[in-house]
Amino acid sequence: MKQAILIIDFGSQLTKLIARRVRDFGVFSLVIPYDSLNSKIFKDNEIKGLIFSGGPRSVDDKNSPRLPLFVYKRNIPILGICYGLQLICKQFGGKLKFSGDREFGKQEITIKKLSPLTKNTHKLNKKYQVWMSHSDSVEQLPVGFDVIASSGDCKNAIIQNLNTKVFGVQFHPEVVHTLNGTALLKNFVIKICKCKKNWNMKSFKNQMIADIRNKVGEDHVICGLSGGVDSTVTAILIHKAIKNKLKCVFVDTGLMRKNESQIIKNLFVKNYNIKLDVIDSSEEFFLKLRGVKDPEQKRKIIGKLFIKNFEKYAKSNKEIKFLAQGTLYPDVIESASKIGNSSVTIKSHHNVGGLPKKLKFKLLEPLRELFKDEVRKLGNELNISEQFTGRHPFPGPGLGIRVLGEVTKRNVEILKKADDIFINLIKEHGLYKKIWQAFCVLLPIKTVGVMGDDRTYERICILRAVTSVDGMTAESFKFNDNFLKLCATEIVNRVKGINRVCYDLTSKPPGTIEYE
Ligand code: XMP
Repeated sequence: MKQAILIIDFGSQLTKLIARRVRDFGVFSLVIPYDSLNSKIFKDNEIKGLIFSGGPRSVDDKNSPRLPLFVYKRNIPILGICYGLQLICKQFGGKLKFSGDREFGKQEITIKKLSPLTKNTHKLNKKYQVWMSHSDSVEQLPVGFDVIASSGDCKNAIIQNLNTKVFGVQFHPEVVHTLNGTALLKNFVIKICKCKKNWNMKSFKNQMIADIRNKVGEDHVICGLSGGVDSTVTAILIHKAIKNKLKCVFVDTGLMRKNESQIIKNLFVKNYNIKLDVIDSSEEFFLKLRGVKDPEQKRKIIGKLFIKNFEKYAKSNKEIKFLAQGTLYPDVIESASKIGNSSVTIKSHHNVGGLPKKLKFKLLEPLRELFKDEVRKLGNELNISEQFTGRHPFPGPGLGIRVLGEVTKRNVEILKKADDIFINLIKEHGLYKKIWQAFCVLLPIKTVGVMGDDRTYERICILRAVTSVDGMTAESFKFNDNFLKLCATEIVNRVKGINRVCYDLTSKPPGTIEYE
């Protein structure tokens, strides 16, 4: 049984970040929405500690999330964060205070008492910057709890009950603005929960290969390749497990980057000797996307067409029973998270959201426990060359979600050319590895320009380049001005159909990385 820290999600946007931090300590973490929690998860895993996340609700609200009491009775150490802390107080008999104002952003806490949670990281009577986001605070502690730290407005910023190993923090230790927040979480996971640091990609790879063999048996598996890191790693991992029972298909949607099919063929056929069937379905994709402007509708159409192509292909091979998908953990968490009425679909990532209800295949998703950077590590473990594992991520729906508005062949061609110029300039200037993801976006509006003596009336191209660890949060990359000017000049001069280039400075949040 796998040791794990179980994170119970109350709807905070930061929950995935907690899971990431725990894995960075070499400890496996699982996220479960509070309303999906049942005792099975404790039977399937050796849960060494519980972390209750923050959440948008107020604990004193009618119908606000609660936990069944069996969770508290397991004698497993608990750390409550923000809503999690308030919930612990409420369920253990303390009192909360609704301040009316939201305390948001940086605050200072002073450490008042020694605690294993802050051992060797926070000094007594010293002030530390933390990041708060709450409107309720603990007014009266439940019996058995002590105050470890306070801030100006919040006298119970860190609390603990050492006997039962239940801790709470009013701030967010998972964000970088909280000084020593990671060290505090590490104290909880390693020292208090006594987790072993045994989560690594080598053991994951070997376990997964055995699991795939077990699950698939004598059946065959179809795997669609998109040119992205996820589908590449998925296919090569499955091939290691079941060899030629894996059928790799590249559906040419017409929405791929320039020269993509050639690059993929080279990797699979030349490097790995894995047979690859190419289905040219681009005409059908453009036909179905004609006149469609809504991002979600586009994503669903593309997802459905992918599946239709796979099903058609599988008809000629009756042994195919499984469809392999490069679904990652953030997608799994997002699609599982149906917290009250507060859940919102930001985007239907087609790996999960676009699958039809009646799928003719069983799903094989070997990466569904991994975050993006872990997929890269697994790729290295599988000896996939850096040229591929180091490629920037590419979304399943491809350029279909980067041509804003209607997707036509002409618009996709324009975008492909601009994107190729931008990426090549980034590579030539030695910037590719410093950037997490870079691409061009074609806007559906035109502006007036002048070229030579002629008036032009063409589209705007947006350059997007971000730094990130796992795509969940991102910052725009800081290019120097001359580089950006060079990109603008090259694109406008060489790509007919674009006469203006802009650089996007938006972080995620509040933006997302892709535009649709
Ligand atoms: P957003 O736009 O949500 O993107 O900030 C985060 C990361 O996910 C990628 N992405 C996708 N990947 N299928 C995928 O396989 C999708 O439908 C999809 N949509 C977004 C995006 O490129 C970025 O790396």
